Amino acid sequence: MNDKTENVVWHSATVTRERRRQLNGHQSFVLWFTGLSGSGKSTLAHAVEEHLHQAQCRTFVFDGDNVRHGLCSDLGFGEEDRKENIRRIGEMTRLFVEAGVIAMTAFISPFREERQRVRSLFAPGEFIEVYCDCSLEVCEERDVKGLYAKARAGLIPNYTGISSPYEAPESPEIRVRTDQENLEQSIDHVLRYLRERKLIA
Ligand code: ADX
Repeated sequence: MNDKTENVVWHSATVTRERRRQLNGHQSFVLWFTGLSGSGKSTLAHAVEEHLHQAQCRTFVFDGDNVRHGLCSDLGFGEEDRKENIRRIGEMTRLFVEAGVIAMTAFISPFREERQRVRSLFAPGEFIEVYCDCSLEVCEERDVKGLYAKARAGLIPNYTGISSPYEAPESPEIRVRTDQENLEQSIDHVLRYLRERKLIA
């Protein structure tokens, strides 16, 4: 609590997360995709969402590029702004999980400490870190948005992987080698994990 929140009372709802989950017929949790730009986070998150949606699950994908045009449009890519970006997304996904939704996030989220901070907002098992492990070489080769080339040319400061660090997860719940396996294999990998943990049927 800080001086801004000390007089704010948290209302406890009669409609609880458990009741929302019961109504939905499935658990709620967050799949937190992390990895370099171009590692396939968004592609995989949306593909997994498609499967879950077809299985009658309530889902939502938060995507770095979209959120940065709205909720986080005031933030840049310096260290402090990236931390604030992840803090906001973390709080937002917490509310979605509370609402009974399977939330998926596709942000580079390069700093271990910030990801850990988000993890600590959730009950054990609710925060599932999915490391989209793809070598910088492959990401740069793909360079879908042409931003690596610009970063190499010195036109974009603090570019993750080039002039700003990416701290790989040490023990993610799921690690997909997006530079070695195809999309279907990665989707299977994620869905298998969820089924094994009885998070989906
Ligand atoms: S994060 O580091 O704060 O998690 P986020 O996922 O929201 O990053 O945004 C990353 C996307 O922003 C990249 O995919 C890329 O399109 C764009 N971008 C623009 N500038 C940078 C930069 N300096 N470093 C990384 N990505 C950048």
